[in-house]
Amino acid sequence: MLDWQTEERARSSLIIYHATNLGLTANSLSSLSGLSLKRTVDIWEQRNATIAEAEVIARALRISLRDLIGSEPDTGNGIRVEFKKNSFVWRENSALPFYEYRRLANSNALGTTAGLELTPLRPLSSLATEGEMVHGLHEYGYVIGKSPVEFEWITSSGPVRKTLNHGDSLYVSPFVRHRFGTLDNSHDAKIVILRIPGKIGGDQLVEASIFGEQTIRRLITDDKQWFNP
Ligand SMILES: [Fe+2]
Repeated sequence: MLDWQTEERARSSLIIYHATNLGLTANSLSSLSGLSLKRTVDIWEQRNATIAEAEVIARALRISLRDLIGSEPDTGNGIRVEFKKNSFVWRENSALPFYEYRRLANSNALGTTAGLELTPLRPLSSLATEGEMVHGLHEYGYVIGKSPVEFEWITSSGPVRKTLNHGDSLYVSPFVRHRFGTLDNSHDAKIVILRIPGKIGGDQLVEASIFGEQTIRRLITDDKQWFNP
């Protein structure tokens, strides 16, 4: 059980966890890392490793420093509320933005998911790439605004467009090109968007990225045979 009372305690717990996995004690960790025996025993007993000591120990354990940085759950008793007045709102950095985004409540426990309120700001233009989104997460959308949303996606035979109304929902597979637009410029076309990783995400996805974008696509979409039968 990790100890989240302070960052130092979390860091020290992770050091002990990884060291113990390797069969190390405070004594042998001191020999391996070059940290003094006194400090190593202190870390073990007082749980007070500094970040500089964690760096030394990470190198000695041949693990990433990232593995020794605990992220304290930010949900308190399991709940996180985000008030509208405090939520982060932004538009793309352009003179004619297509979307306004509002970040919804989320937690560092699920860092690879995203919950957003999306407001399309303009009608879909005839230029197919304008406002186009492509992302590596699965996406669910639910239309909550009063005004309809124009939803377009690209298939092998060209773009397909549907008008979605209040209560309609959608799902987009990773890497499918798609975009949203309004019919009336009212800014009342609003969609709640939830983006989640598929069967593989987080550290596994970072590791798979060593093998290139095609591998990631294949891992996420899992639409090809891995071998000739
Ligand atoms: Fe999207």
